[in-house]
Amino acid sequence: MKKITKAVFPVAGMGSRFLPATKASPKEMMPVVEKPLIQYAVEEAVAAGITDMVFITGRNKRAIEDHFDKAYELEAELAARGKDELLRIVQEVIPKHVNCIYIRQTEALGLGHAVLCAQPVVQDEAFAVILADDLIDGEVPIVKQMVDVYAQYQCSILGVQDVPRSQTKSYGIVSSTNLEKNVERVSGIVEKPAPEVAPSTLAVVGRYILTPRIFHHLAQVRPGSGGEIQLTDGIAALMREEQLLAYRFDGIRYDCGSKLGYLQAQVAFGLKHPELRDEFSAYLATVK
Ligand code: G1P
Repeated sequence: MKKITKAVFPVAGMGSRFLPATKASPKEMMPVVEKPLIQYAVEEAVAAGITDMVFITGRNKRAIEDHFDKAYELEAELAARGKDELLRIVQEVIPKHVNCIYIRQTEALGLGHAVLCAQPVVQDEAFAVILADDLIDGEVPIVKQMVDVYAQYQCSILGVQDVPRSQTKSYGIVSSTNLEKNVERVSGIVEKPAPEVAPSTLAVVGRYILTPRIFHHLAQVRPGSGGEIQLTDGIAALMREEQLLAYRFDGIRYDCGSKLGYLQAQVAFGLKHPELRDEFSAYLATVK
């Protein structure tokens, strides 16, 4: 069996829900406490043994490339001032054995199109897709959990969780039958159905393991929900050919694509932060 070595990070989106913060800087660089969202996503991939990070970028995203690159001036400055701990933090943003590959998506044609842009690098291997604005905190990192499920079943796997029926319009929603604890066999998937017509409340949330056959289908998908080339529609076509599973991951997910979810993540990660937790929880206790 081949290991999963590549993760695709679609990061070309506009981040319009966070304007004006995202006017000139990428939404994926917004921090939760002191670490940008994209770094949490990359750390999750690294923890799953993934070594090649493929970023699908767009205009105004250069900060992401700089973040994972060597920062000569900053490092020299920190070294000269004897700020060893900060120097270590800067140097350990990404482990040395990890490769970063950047592909420019020149037009924002949708998530499915972004994933298709990774084909020249991924070629004929199964790979992970990680949406950085779904920040998921698990004792075992979520992609690692999913890679373990992949090792058993060798097919495409979607990370899913139940959402309130009123929210189906924000997600890809699956129909499924139970296979074993936390693992479902998917029999249908639809992008952003209205609550009245949603086949279930089981939502895809930003973690995928896909077989390379997905590229064949994404190349044929026509614009769907929102006029975009949807990853969900490519997955629906893949499902007609190959087994497709959904995995109820073990972890708490923060929707950092929304202001409320982003604030919730700040609070949760602040309360866990070794330097902050005592003072921060004392502060929160005073907030009405
Ligand atoms: C995308 C996908 C959707 C998925 C969601 C998870 O939607 O198209 O199927 O459920 O991510 O966050 P977006 O949030 O980009 O509109």
